[in-house]
Amino acid sequence: MSLVLYEVEDSVGIITINRPEVLNALNSAVLDELRDVLRKVDINTVRCLIVTGAGDKSFVAGADIAEMKNLNSREAMEFSVKGNNVFENLAKFPIPVIAAVNGYALGGGCELCLSCDIRICSENAVFGQPETGLGITPGFGGTQRLIRMVGEGMAKQMIYTARNIKSDEAYRIGLVNSVHPVGEVLNAAKKIAKQIAANAPIAVRASKEAIHRGRLLPIEGGKLVEERAFGICFETHDQQEGMGAFLEKRKEKKFTNN
Ligand code: COA
Repeated sequence: MSLVLYEVEDSVGIITINRPEVLNALNSAVLDELRDVLRKVDINTVRCLIVTGAGDKSFVAGADIAEMKNLNSREAMEFSVKGNNVFENLAKFPIPVIAAVNGYALGGGCELCLSCDIRICSENAVFGQPETGLGITPGFGGTQRLIRMVGEGMAKQMIYTARNIKSDEAYRIGLVNSVHPVGEVLNAAKKIAKQIAANAPIAVRASKEAIHRGRLLPIEGGKLVEERAFGICFETHDQQEGMGAFLEKRKEKKFTNN
């Protein structure tokens, strides 16, 4: 059985981390499979990805502690590089990625959802960076992405104390956009994905690229990235279609990804 499942429903790709017996903990093989799944996503037909965890208890309960326990320093650094590379691929993946957090999102699980564009969760979700309690630092982006998401003060508190937070607190600090009853988070993610899929694909991809590239730059540089993206849209059929539909008071739009 694959450790990472991939299915396409309409134009939405659903990636499921599939090791429910260990609460979907990320070992090296899972990271390899996730990398390979991302390579096979056809961005000409798939408009949005959803990442979730198998079972009803856990999104991802972290990197695999049993696998990590006896790593030496060099091997540990290589594991961190591997995780960071896969998660960075997700963060800059050409189409939007939604994390449907259906339970524990601890350590690497919290970092996995941080590398997605949008995070929503179920009421039983638990977030945290427990690494310092295990004698290590976060290694798959937690020290970098969490501060950008929830601010430095809250991120430092979460990392230094290793305290887990529940879904209501995650919502309050802006870690997730919405909280859903248990069992409903995947459908909620599909609903958002369908809204994204209904829009002009080139415009959505260009928006993601502008946001991703621009936020690493000073605002002046970021605006240049935006201006270029904006201009490129005006070379597309879909810009004519979208604006034409508005002016002709047409509800139906035929975006062709061109
Ligand atoms: N790595 C390896 N195995 C893990 C794991 C992880 N990160 N998280 C859970 N598991 C395994 C457990 O060892 C257990 O395996 P077993 O049945 O062979 O004993 C199984 O998953 C179920 O976990 P269990 O701890 O029995 O479930 P629980 O409901 O009592 O507790 C958690 C759930 C998430 C609170 C607890 O599993 C936990 O704290 N996990 C580690 C979280 C963590 O520190 N992640 C960061 C790693 S850097």
